[in-house]
Amino acid sequence: MDQEKILVIGACGQIGRELTAALRLKFGQMQVLASDIQAKNNLSTEVFPYQQLDVTDADALEKLIADEQVTQIYHLAAMLSANGEKNPKKAWDLNMNSLLSVLDLSVKYGVKKVFWPSSIAVFGPDSEKTNTPQQGITEPSTVYGISKAAGEYWCKYYFEKFGLDVRSIRYPGLISYTGAPGGGTTDYAVDIFHHGVEAKPFTCFLKKETVLPMMYMEDAIRATLELMDAPVDNIKVRTSYNLSGLSFSPEELATEIEKLVPGFKVDYTPDFRQQIADSWPGSIDDSAAQTDWNWKPAYNLEAMVSDMLLNLRALQEI
Ligand code: SER
Repeated sequence: MDQEKILVIGACGQIGRELTAALRLKFGQMQVLASDIQAKNNLSTEVFPYQQLDVTDADALEKLIADEQVTQIYHLAAMLSANGEKNPKKAWDLNMNSLLSVLDLSVKYGVKKVFWPSSIAVFGPDSEKTNTPQQGITEPSTVYGISKAAGEYWCKYYFEKFGLDVRSIRYPGLISYTGAPGGGTTDYAVDIFHHGVEAKPFTCFLKKETVLPMMYMEDAIRATLELMDAPVDNIKVRTSYNLSGLSFSPEELATEIEKLVPGFKVDYTPDFRQQIADSWPGSIDDSAAQTDWNWKPAYNLEAMVSDMLLNLRALQEI
């Protein structure tokens, strides 16, 4: 096998940090070039090799792909749902134009595989709420969701028109202890742990009964690697795969945390993010991912909560 040269775009984000580490374990430290808009000197040495990159600068991206002879790209840079609603045009510009540059340049330079994340945000108020099917009504109501839905069709188009092997997952809300997410609607489910571990009361911006599809980051990273490893003929969905981990409400999560943090207090003050959450499904049917590349999540709510608290406590002690 020829040596891969992998470019991760958005490597300092919530998914990027962990995916870069996982890719480096798999392919070797020097084979995975991390890039992000952040300046090099603000970063810990863990991210090296590293190149600062504004992905909306297509010339800079082209130079990087050409100079480094990149064979695979993981393009993770995006503005999430809540931040996107505050800045719709900027969200569209970042999310959409960066994807188009990545797709175009991948064709031009013969990049073999591209990964691009989509999201449960492609679904909207008219989508089925329970076990939302792979193919059904999407009609998203956020700019983030619109950019992801459009992006999915672009991925399929580049596969069909140019044979570009682009693969994608509709991630549920992702929960991790290493890095804070930025500007998402599901992010209460990360923040709550930071309060829990310090036994500080938490104010949730969603109603206590709002059930959303979620996933522990360990599962999400494994899913990504498994999808990218699957034989090309197994990849039947060229828009983006539904992926299911677990579903819970803020109240159910708080109750689980309280078992390990006695006396933990949560109150609920819904804001504009409630409307976004209400437009999304509560659970996802991922049978296509199960059939095509054997997807199976490992973490349930109890296992995730105990692992999150364990790791956050360990980080506190460092
Ligand atoms: N976690 C994302 C958000 O809340 C959804 O993909 O915006």
